[in-house]
Amino acid sequence: MNLAEIVKEIVAEIEPHRGEGKVADYIPALACVDPMKFGIAVATPDGECHSAGDADEPFSVQSISKVFTLALALQKVGDDLWQRVGREPSGSAFNSIVQLEHERGIPRNPLINAGAIVVTDHLIDNGDADAAIELLLRVLRDHAEDQSIDIDYDVAVSESDTGARNRSLAWFMASFGNLENDVEVALSAYFRHCALALSCAQLARAALFLAFNGEDPVTGERILTPQRCRRINAIMMSCGHYDNSGDFAFRIGLPGKSGVGGGILAIVPGQGAAATWSPGLNEAGTSRVGALALEALVARTGWSVF
Ligand code: DON
Repeated sequence: MNLAEIVKEIVAEIEPHRGEGKVADYIPALACVDPMKFGIAVATPDGECHSAGDADEPFSVQSISKVFTLALALQKVGDDLWQRVGREPSGSAFNSIVQLEHERGIPRNPLINAGAIVVTDHLIDNGDADAAIELLLRVLRDHAEDQSIDIDYDVAVSESDTGARNRSLAWFMASFGNLENDVEVALSAYFRHCALALSCAQLARAALFLAFNGEDPVTGERILTPQRCRRINAIMMSCGHYDNSGDFAFRIGLPGKSGVGGGILAIVPGQGAAATWSPGLNEAGTSRVGALALEALVARTGWSVF
């Protein structure tokens, strides 16, 4: 299988769709991203990264960061995490508040905003959100073997300035005693990790361990236990695209995570990790053209967990 050729073919195949979907504008700093961008990268266990299009241009990964914070929180607190966040699909939008009232302030899963805020709260010791973010950056730079990865602080400030919904979610959960830290402390870490800027190539490389039972196949480093790795993949499959998760599983059949910056990360257990970027979104906040590209990738490779 010639992945270098396949990614080039996919760029040609999506060409008529380039620019489709709606760029997120509820975070003002995201609204000015060029909707015509498209990148794709596939990282494989031999350390290669096959990429095409704008695959080396960093973009705002937004909710894709929730996969990495979940991995870190599981490393740090283990299964106690599941006392404070569930693992069922919500069937609701990523920023929905409706279930929290009837479910004692326990978010349905770690990939919706409310769940990710709780996960982030677990990463913060003694109110030190900066230390949590430094740890996350260190870990991502190591996983991606690229020390240049950073946060786009303009995006983080823009999201905080317009973060009424996330503040509502966090205060509501705090009213049920489901946040350890001050609301603003937890949110300051959450806004910053959502504003991480990675390219498709960096993202695919950083997530490769999720395709290999929690072990980085290039460096041999064990990052997560095989069981926790499988569980993260299961949650990505069932919840990674919110109320669009069923459709993504139906069309692509791989654990995935979308972000409103237009990125999608897809894990191919035993094979590699793929990332796409195209800023235009569908109604659920998943990149339209990114999903088309991943459909083309699985059609050409036969990759699927089913
Ligand atoms: O909290 C938010 O609304 C954004 N920082 C992240 C949302 C997001 O990426 C949803 N994913 N498709």
